[in-house]
Parts: sequence; structure tokens; C-alpha cells
Amino acid sequence: MAMVRLDKLSKNYGDVVALEEVDLEVEEGEFMTLLGPSGSGKTTMLNLIAGMIAPTSGRVFIDGRDVSTVPPNKRGLGMVFQNYALMPHMTIFENIAFPLRVRKTANDVVKREVGRVLDLIQLPHVADRKPRELSGGQQQRIALARAIVYNPSIILMDEPLGALDKKLRETMQLELKRIHTELGITMLYVTHDQEEALTMSDRIILLSDGQIEQMGEPDHLYFNPNGLFSADFLGDSNMLDATVESGGETTSVRTAEGLTLIAKASAISEPGRSVKVMVRPENVSIRRSDESFDNAIQGKVIDSIILGGVVKHYVDMGRGTAEEEAMVVEELNRPGRTSIRPGVEVTLGWNASDMHVLPLEGRLPDA
Ligand SMILES: Nc1ncnc2c1ncn2[C@@H]1O[C@H](COP(=O)(O)OP(=O)(O)OP(=O)(O)O)[C@@H](O)[C@H]1O
Ligand SMILES: [Mg+2]
Repeated sequence: MAMVRLDKLSKNYGDVVALEEVDLEVEEGEFMTLLGPSGSGKTTMLNLIAGMIAPTSGRVFIDGRDVSTVPPNKRGLGMVFQNYALMPHMTIFENIAFPLRVRKTANDVVKREVGRVLDLIQLPHVADRKPRELSGGQQQRIALARAIVYNPSIILMDEPLGALDKKLRETMQLELKRIHTELGITMLYVTHDQEEALTMSDRIILLSDGQIEQMGEPDHLYFNPNGLFSADFLGDSNMLDATVESGGETTSVRTAEGLTLIAKASAISEPGRSVKVMVRPENVSIRRSDESFDNAIQGKVIDSIILGGVVKHYVDMGRGTAEEEAMVVEELNRPGRTSIRPGVEVTLGWNASDMHVLPLEGRLPDA
């Protein structure tokens, strides 16, 4: 049985539709991430599940029980917010103990449970300090400890790492994953950072304008975007305007530049149909003339940028030399790699299986 189930859940604020008829099932123990741009409805969805706001229509089930009218503190959830919301005048011990005190837990149990979660977040020595005596990352861990101390069945987190710098954020991502694995708890996690979502999640829900655009495992979303929004939001992409010439086991298209390209089989391959075709930069090979690819086009290097472990090449393939007109190619930066200078003529190659056919509007039925 699903741990969280949403049934046609909607929330309107006057004319604004913050969430529109969302159906969803989150399995027990799953790390589920809500990903989407600002204003797409992520916080709204989390707050509806937590009971902080009431739905306009639809229902919320937790562990099979309809909780649509149950108050937040009776839903068995732990919540972690972006701003930690620790109480400044209380010690760390009392901050973490708070949810247990509210539940009138006996003192010896409080002591044992606070000790347990302090160990779990690897900060056993800070119990007597005040929040201001901890770093941002440590405070974030305390907020997490407070959310898990009374063993909720689900933890909801709204951009919990938003305030931390990149390095600390990455450390905390691993920390959260470890705790998730150790406790086997169901997590619903909000972020607008696609890398964070790809790193952490069992499944991702991609939201835009209050609707689920696409849902699935990180690899599935990355390798099978169902429309322009998904393709654009997750990862980098080279996008070309094209017209379908023929369909079948592969799709043959003619691009606006007059190139004939071979793409994957597609549900939208009626001859004459206007589409976009997309290939990710890391799937395009540059200058390997000894390899054979389904697609090969000529171009001239505009610029190459070394980004540590990867090199990014911008190539003029006849559309122009502006960054958004260039084909972007990414390759691993290896010692001994011969550098490619601006102005050099190159061949770009990629396979049909790496080229997606996408509709100009709307979504493909999920494969
Ligand atoms: N209390 C409110 N009154 C009116 N409109 C609201 C209210 N709360 C949210 N909205 C609107 O609902 C939509 C969804 O908001 P929500 O806070 O869920 O977005 P979000 O995905 O969490 O964005 P962010 O990444 O910026 O936090 C937005 O258009 C927002 O302006
Ligand atoms: Mg939000």
C-alpha cells in the first residue's frame, strides 16, 4: 500500500491554480523529490500533505488513511523547513526534545531518544549549546534530528539545504541519503536544483504550473524526457527545429538548417510533422573520424572551455556563432587530450538512439 496517496488534489488561491488535480502514490521507504521552477507548486503540495493548508478539492491519504481533515500534528509527519526554525533561547537538547515534550514523553525516554538522534546526525557533543553556537550545516542537522526524533513514518523537507554553500550542501546531501538508508523512512523532498534531485532521489516528480510534467526514476527522466519542459529542465540539451520525413524503427528528420538526421523511434513520427529533436552534449562525439555514427555533421569550433573534469566545446554547425546557436559538446578531460582550437573544422557524431523527437507543445505519452 502506498505511504502517501494523493487523489485529484487541487489548491486554488483566487484565480491562481497552485496545484491542479494531482494524482500520486509514494511507496514506503521511498526518497521522492518534488522538482520544479519557482512557483510550480512544490511548497503547496508539501503543505497540503502536511495539513498546513486545506485543499480546494481532492484528498490526501497517509498509510491508507484519509487525512484530508486531520490536523498537522495528528498526521505522523516530521517536517524540515528551509530556515531550520530552531528556537534560539533553548539548548540543542531542548530543541530536539521539543516534539517529545509536546507528546508528554517520560524524561528518561526523552534523554535516550535525543541521544540516539544526536548520534545519528554525528553531533553527539553539542547538546548543551545554543543554536547560534553552531554552523549553518550543523543547525540544519539539528532541524533534521528534531524532525526524526519521534519516529514519524514520513519526513517532509522543503528546500532544507537552500541556505548552505555548495560544498556543505553536497556533504549534507550524502548525510541525508545515509540517514534515509539507515532509518528506511519515507522522504518527500523539495528542491529546484536538478543536480540535487538527480543525486538523491529514488524517483523525481517534475512539476510545472501546478501539474506533474513527468515522474520517474532519475535516469528515466534524464534519458526519456517526454517534452520540451523535461528535456530543458533536466540536464543540458542541444535542440533543433525539424520536420519528420519518415517514421519506423528510427525517425528520419530534416532540420531547419537542411540536415538529414536519424533519431529514435517516436510516437510522433507522421511525415510532415513539425518537431524538435534533442541530443545531450555528452552524447555528441567530436573529431573521432575513425568511429562511425548514425549522424555526422561538419562544424567549426567557436570556443572550448575546460570545466575541471569535463571540456565543453561550442561548435558552429551552420546556425551561427552565438552561444545559443552553437552545438554544445561535452567530453571527459583526460591527460594527454589533444586540445581543439577555435576555428578548427570538426566532425560531430552521435547515434540515433541518443536523439529524441519531442513535440512542440505538450507531452508524449510516458513510455
Ligand atoms: N498564500 C498564497 N496566496 C496566493 N497565492 C499563493 C499563495 N501561496 C502560493 N501561491 C501561489 O501558488 C503558486 C505555487 O506556489 P508554491 O509556493 O507552491 O511554489 P514553489 O514551487 O514552492 O516555488 P519556490 O521554488 O519559489 O518556493 C505560485 O504561483 C504562488 O504565487
Ligand atoms: Mg517553495
